[in-house]
Amino acid sequence: MVNEQAEPVRIERDGAVAIVTVDRPKALNALSAEVLRALIAAFAELTDDGAAVRGVILTGEGGRAFIAGADIRAMSELSADDATELARLGHEAAAAIEAFPAPVIAAVDGFALGGGLEIALACDLIYATDSSAFGQPEVHLGLIPGFGGTVRLPRLVGPARARELIYTGRRIDVDEAVAAGLVAKRFPDRASLLAGARETIDAVAANSWSAVALAKRVLTDAAGTPTERASALEIEGFGDAFRTEDMREGVAAFLEKREPRFGA
Ligand code: CAA
Repeated sequence: MVNEQAEPVRIERDGAVAIVTVDRPKALNALSAEVLRALIAAFAELTDDGAAVRGVILTGEGGRAFIAGADIRAMSELSADDATELARLGHEAAAAIEAFPAPVIAAVDGFALGGGLEIALACDLIYATDSSAFGQPEVHLGLIPGFGGTVRLPRLVGPARARELIYTGRRIDVDEAVAAGLVAKRFPDRASLLAGARETIDAVAANSWSAVALAKRVLTDAAGTPTERASALEIEGFGDAFRTEDMREGVAAFLEKREPRFGA
């Protein structure tokens, strides 16, 4: 694997899988504006690679935290206007992950708190080790979630559970996170976590890249929208699939009783 980017966010490539690591372990990978900008840049760089990247594993360095939230030390100096800008940047980072054309798996090994959980929520899936912990503790600091927690947490765990977690600020362990639907798969340790995420991306990579990208676009754009709008997006996306070579190949392969040979 080749490290292509300097800290605080590293990109490593391993075949069609890219591993993006937030590398600020001394501050439990807390999200300063610099880290958020580096995350945005990392996903922009990977987007430029198109179909060469079939999936991304997003993780944190150090074995203690995925990301322990926005950088509280840096926030202590901010004015209200500065804080609004920081929230915009956090939302931009979350949007960059959501808009990435291939699946992004948050591989959580340790704390995913506040802005850290919010970044994980922007990923397609959250996988976690048994020693992980999750929460939106902003109210303990006199704050509210600022990088998408009020938007994406209710979608994943339901409005009542999201409100309870945001109002109490309490931390939940992996058992509760799995039961809540927040964590899709749990693993005993970091090595099996990364291997499990890789296995999922390998399974996705066997499919049509354009179809997976289209499915992600429809799922993302439709999230939280009324049924009529969500249905319109799916109808449009279904039609768009018929403009692709992969759709012609996939359907022809089925009818000819052979394996498909997808492009890209
Ligand atoms: N920002 C800045 N630094 C942080 C940090 C954060 N969010 N979280 C941890 N750190 C730093 C600590 O200050 C400490 O640094 P020093 O060694 O220089 O003192 C180092 O990381 C290790 O942390 P602890 O000594 O606190 O480790 P611990 O094991 O005792 O506790 C923890 C771990 C429970 C995660 C604790 O660090 C903690 O509660 N962190 C803050 C979690 C939090 O409140 N996150 C939400 C932030 S607000 C937010 O994210 C708003 C938003 O929605 C955008």
